[in-house]
This record gives sequence, structure tokens and C-alpha cells, in this order.
Amino acid sequence: MKYAVCYRSLTGCTKKVAQAIYDDIKEKDKALLDIKDNPDITDADIVALGYYVDQAGPDDLACKFITRLKGKRVFVFCTLAYFADSTHAFEAIQKGIKLVQEAGGQVIGSFIANGALAPQIIAEFKRMAQSGNANHHAYTPEKGLRYELFKNHPTKAECALASERFQERVLLSDQVEALKAQH
Ligand SMILES: Cc1cc2nc3c(=O)[nH]c(=O)nc-3n(C[C@H](O)[C@H](O)[C@H](O)COP(=O)(O)O)c2cc1C
Repeated sequence: MKYAVCYRSLTGCTKKVAQAIYDDIKEKDKALLDIKDNPDITDADIVALGYYVDQAGPDDLACKFITRLKGKRVFVFCTLAYFADSTHAFEAIQKGIKLVQEAGGQVIGSFIANGALAPQIIAEFKRMAQSGNANHHAYTPEKGLRYELFKNHPTKAECALASERFQERVLLSDQVEALKAQH
């Protein structure tokens, strides 16, 4: 297997981006793998690694999986319920990138998409607000508008852009490797 698209997803948002990246890979030598199944990626050269953001980074299972990425070229992507263009989102993708680098993987690019927040979590945040809980996650009407806005994310456009970025960075990485081989 040359390409492994590996994802950690609880409610399907990250899987949707992973599927789009996988579908657009032209080579036959590819696999779409759920990290919860602890997939074997020994033969993979290029790994697209996706995770849902859990407390500003990959969850424990994704972190454990990342330790196996030594020597791979890795494209990192994530989905999260807060704004994709926020400092929080940037920190959440950087956390994954840093872990890949610490594991000995080479990061060739990254992508952040918005994802819907699960209705059970919204309900929990509403319960917090109703019980007067001062937790910063407690529901407010303003937050409700954001949840509503993102309820159909990641969109087709986000998935397409994630895939386009992946393709471009793999191509660029191949070209750089070829250039290095000449010297
Ligand atoms: C346990 C847990 C922790 C989360 N922590 C964050 C967070 O720190 N920041 C954020 O923006 N979203 C957070 N989320 C929301 C998810 O990252 C977001 O809804 C994501 O798109 C879900 O992806 P999935 O459908 O692939 O599971 C959290 C969700 C869960 C279940």
C-alpha cells in the first residue's frame, strides 16, 4: 500500500474529509483506514492522517497511532467545532504536526475543516447553562448560532480543498525528492 488515509472520527465529520481525499487518489495502491481498528500501515509511504479535535488536539488513540509514523510522508488534517480560522484551530493542528515530527514523520502539508458539534454535546452544554454551571462550554444563544452554522460541515468545498491540498503537496514532495536524488 503506497497511500494510507487514516482517520479518527466519532460522528463522521473527519471521515467525510478522509473519504474525499481517498476517492481522489488516482493510484490503485491505497487504503482508507479507521484508526480505531489499529490498522497496519507498515507498507505505506504517504499517510493522510485525520483526527477530530479533542481538547485542542488529537485524542489519546490518535496520539498513540501517530507514534508509528516514523519515516512516512504525512499530510495532517483535522475537523473541529470552533472556527477553523481561529488560534484554537491553529494550535490543534500544530499539536498533531508536532507529534508527527517527534515520531520521525515528515509533514508535507495540513488542512483544517469545520465539523458539526454532536447534538448530544450541544444538549449537555445547554444543561450546563440551565443549571447555572459557569463552565466556559455552557450554552449561549451566540454559540447556538455557530453550532447551527456548522451543522452541515465539513462542506463539499472544504472536502474538495482538503483533497486538492493533499494532491498538490504529494506532487510537490515527489518533485523535491526527485530533485534531491539528482544531486
Ligand atoms: C470529547 C470531545 C472533545 C472535543 N474538543 C473540542 C475542542 O477542543 N475544540 C473544538 O473546536 N471542538 C472540539 N470537539 C468537537 C469536535 O472536534 C468536532 O465536532 C469534530 O468535527 C467531530 O468530528 P467527527 O465527526 O469526525 O468525530 C470535541 C468533541 C468531543 C467529542
